Formats: sequence, structure tokens, C-alpha cells
Amino acid sequence: MGFDPLVGGDRLVDLGCGPGLYAQRFAARGVSVTGIDLSAGSIAHAVEAAGAAELEIDYRVGDYAVDTLGGPYDAAALIYLDFGVLPDAPRDRLLDAVRSALRPGGAFVVDVHAPPRWRLPEAGLHVGQADGGFWRPGPHVVVETTYRFGDDLDVVQYAVIEADTVTTYRVWDRAYSAIALRALLRRHGLAVEHAWEDLAGTPRRRSSPTLGVVARRLARSRLGRPREGADVGSRRVRLEVDEVTDTVDGHGTGAADSGEVRGDPAEGRQ
Ligand SMILES: C[S@@+](CC[C@H](N)C(=O)[O-])C[C@H]1O[C@@H](n2cnc3c(N)ncnc32)[C@H](O)[C@@H]1O
Repeated sequence: MGFDPLVGGDRLVDLGCGPGLYAQRFAARGVSVTGIDLSAGSIAHAVEAAGAAELEIDYRVGDYAVDTLGGPYDAAALIYLDFGVLPDAPRDRLLDAVRSALRPGGAFVVDVHAPPRWRLPEAGLHVGQADGGFWRPGPHVVVETTYRFGDDLDVVQYAVIEADTVTTYRVWDRAYSAIALRALLRRHGLAVEHAWEDLAGTPRRRSSPTLGVVARRLARSRLGRPREGADVGSRRVRLEVDEVTDTVDGHGTGAADSGEVRGDPAEGRQ
């Protein structure tokens, strides 16, 4: 994949670690893992599973969009497409916190849905009935409706109907093109080094429904001054140029800017 994997002794923070599926795999390879999850139930399960496997993992119940993440870490991972549910403000706060928690050159590993969302098969209306399950322990009906807003934003609304109540849940999800994700991460001092269809390293295709990237914390980042520039017709226009000069300790960022992401015709959509 062309990506240096973590080795024994490296430090990883697994954001939204859930029951610790990835945390355990890394810990088994000698990586020092901190796992953070909002769900006390998931963390309890993760602690139990780590104990059974005789692995030492620092699990914490916490909100990665609010809490201090600790560190410094060699890598931070936010795996399984959860990044897209974050509204802009907590997302931006999280990216700043991730950057602060990483050592210079440390890696942020994240996956997202890729636009356009209408490629996904689950658009529309689904009705399901169960005697118990994910939403409720007893009998209920779930009416699931997906609404799409442009190519990159959707909300799935779940109406959970019981004998005498209806409760509605809405899950928003934003998709990011490679260009959009790279620009966003760059604004937060993280330079995309690798991009694949997923974090297993599947090569990207025009129709890839997901995008997984590794971005490096920039050692220095400097916003350039807005530049007086191009002529458009007879008007002189001011270009707001996001000119970032950066170096990553031990890693050139040239790959991020000229590698497999750029030149992908799929990006013409953005
Ligand atoms: C889709 S699951 C992925 C779990 C794990 N990364 C995996 O791939 O197996 C998302 C996890 O993120 C957790 N989560 C969601 N928002 C969170 C937040 N703000 N802070 C911490 N954990 C959060 C959820 O509780 C859930 O366990």
C-alpha cells in the first residue's frame, strides 16, 4: 500500500473504538493503544475482550468531539465512516484536537462515504417489523426514509413505532470527495499522503462509494497572504489563495499533492 504501518511501541488513539475490534489487533502487534468511545456498553465489552485476550489497552468512555485526546500519538484512527455524521463545528474542533494530539508527522487515518450519494443502493423507503432488536427490545415497526441533499449530504430518518408511541431519529451523513477531504484536512494542518477506496487499501475507482485516507500532521504550516492576481475580463479580481507551505518530518508531502488522488477523473464532479 505504500504506507508505513505502525510498529511495536508506537502509540495509537482509536477514536470511536466501539468494542475494540481494531484496537485489539493493533495492541496484539505491540502498539500502545488508547481507545475512546461514547458508549459505556461498548467500552465495557472492549475491556472484557481485552482482558480475555490478555492485552493491555487504555479504554476510556468519552466524547472525542469534546474531550481532550491526550497524546502525543503516532497515529489517530477514526474508522468505519463515522466522520461524516459530524456537523461542521464539532468536526472542525475534532480535527484541531487530532492535530494537537499527533506528533509532527503522525498519521490521521479516516474513512468517509464518497459522493455522489445517489450511487448508494439504500435510497428510498424501507419498512421493517421485529419482535425485538436494534431499536427496541419488544415488538416494533421501523419506517426508514432517506432524503438526499445534493451529491454529498443525506439524512436517514427512522420512525420507530411501538403500540402507543412513535419516536423519530435522524442520522445525517456528509460524503466527501478526495478533493474536498484533502482541502478540509489541509486547513487543519493535515496533509493527505494516501487515498484508497477503503482502509484495507483497495485502489480507488471512479465509482468508489467510500474513501479512506492517511494524512500526516504537518510540522510547520503557514497560510500565505491573499494574492492580488488574475484578470477576469477587464476586472481585476482578488484571489484568496490558500497557500500552505509545509514540511512533514520524515515524509515528503509531494506524494499527497501529485500522487494517486490527483488526476482521478472522478474528482471532476467536485
Ligand atoms: C460505526 S462504529 C465504529 C466502531 C469501530 N471504529 C469499528 O470500526 O469497529 C462508531 C463508534 O463511534 C462511537 N462514537 C460516535 N460518536 C462518538 C463521539 N462523539 N465520541 C466517541 N465515540 C463516538 C460510537 O459509540 C460507535 O462505537
